[in-house]
Amino acid sequence: MIDYRRLRVALLGAGAVGSQVADLLIRHADELADRSGAALELAGIAVRDIDAPRDVDLPRELLTTDADTLIVGSDIVIELMGGIDTARAHILTALNSGADVVTGNKALLATHGAEIFDAADQVGASVYYEAAVAGAIPIIRPLRDSLAGDRVQRIMGIVNGTTNYILDRMDEEGAEMGDILVDAQRLGYAEADPTADIEGYDAAQKAAILASLAFHTSVPLDAVHREGITSITKTTMDAARHAGYVIKLLAVCERVTGRASASDRTAGSDEAISVRVYPALIRRSHPLANVHGVNNAVFVEAEAAGNLMFYGAGAGGVQTASAVLGDVVSAARRHIAGGVGVGESTRANLPVLDIGQVVTRYQVTLEVDDRPGVLARVAGILSEGRVSIATVEQTIQPSPDGEAGTGSARLVIGTHKALEQDLDETVKRLAGDDVVIRVASVLRVEGD
Ligand code: NDP
Ligand code: HSE
Repeated sequence: MIDYRRLRVALLGAGAVGSQVADLLIRHADELADRSGAALELAGIAVRDIDAPRDVDLPRELLTTDADTLIVGSDIVIELMGGIDTARAHILTALNSGADVVTGNKALLATHGAEIFDAADQVGASVYYEAAVAGAIPIIRPLRDSLAGDRVQRIMGIVNGTTNYILDRMDEEGAEMGDILVDAQRLGYAEADPTADIEGYDAAQKAAILASLAFHTSVPLDAVHREGITSITKTTMDAARHAGYVIKLLAVCERVTGRASASDRTAGSDEAISVRVYPALIRRSHPLANVHGVNNAVFVEAEAAGNLMFYGAGAGGVQTASAVLGDVVSAARRHIAGGVGVGESTRANLPVLDIGQVVTRYQVTLEVDDRPGVLARVAGILSEGRVSIATVEQTIQPSPDGEAGTGSARLVIGTHKALEQDLDETVKRLAGDDVVIRVASVLRVEGD
């Protein structure tokens, strides 16, 4: 038996993830010691209510409501409480007392990441957060370490399992969102208040974290353009399927050249980045189209490595615990090896573009009058708006009396790449034009 150096580990939180982390730390103690080169001593587990029911049985003597005392003297502090203010305070206390921190708290990192990474830098400690994006999927370490010598061009991620479950079932069953959301809540995928998931807030937090790492730039949460999935109806889904697409809530983080305003440019560079979350059409042949259910996937395009795909469970207590424990082993190895921690690299400091500066393809669905000159009129408005048409599909919806040429038509227009602000202005003009009854939907097309 090797007499490993002991490291004191404090766990804050014993909920869905924390209870599984505690269980694995206790049950796999010997293996974890061999892998990290240190005996990981779980010194205590901070909770709100010692008597609350737990997913796994934990030694009662480890539970405490006094997180502050537990943190002091710890070598590694694992924060799995969630929330912002208390978690932030505990993490700063931990770092200032010389501990390394492991956290899965995307909400905290997306809002106070810069402060936390600065605090770690000041004392030479490290913050590990593999669990904060896409649960069990290794994506933080690949971006931070494996791809550190490459240049990431674009990331497209399905990083929210709840919305992927909803959109996937809408696609497969032709159902409306409301019915599936109720199922998702019953199955424990969606919260009673599903706002964070279906309005894209959770995905936006993850996008900010991914973009910061990929582009060596501190990306504030409010720079992330966010749209949720509530505008997606059965009709939109059916039309996407008919056109050979599937709709996914995507987090897109992209390096862009030549579009930053002169005042925004970083010295010597005309590069910028765009970070956005919205439901988008992707071709059924794209690897992301085959991500089903609550699974997550992150598709990375890098200059030298080419295309890489990371896929798996984006949430779940024990699955996420795997990512947390990988970080704990890394933190333990660093403690044993000594030296300063891995700081965040934000040196590129690229400007983040407004959504209006994004260039992508679009699919615009219009309901128009079915009479002579309408197509020409629509094409004219698109042309004046600098939006080039790639495809048009028209479906005639006859008038109730069946007389030809007096009903309406559904126009599905696929565009070439266009500037979002041009597209936006054009859609406003279309919506206000006499020949257009209704703009049924406007969706971006990604991944082509
Ligand atoms: P839970 O709500 O299940 O658990 C939270 C735990 O923290 C509970 O044990 C709770 O105590 C404890 N806690 C909360 N506030 C305090 C406080 N002020 N002082 C002491 N203890 C406190 O959360 P999860 O396990 O689901 O999530 C934890 C973190 O992991 C979050 O940041 C989340 O975003 C992240 N994450 C979660 C995933 C998942 O699948 N669940 C996936 C990826 C990341 P008590 O039990 O007594 O109420
Ligand atoms: N609510 C998230 C999801 C899980 O649905 O993916 C934790 O990030």
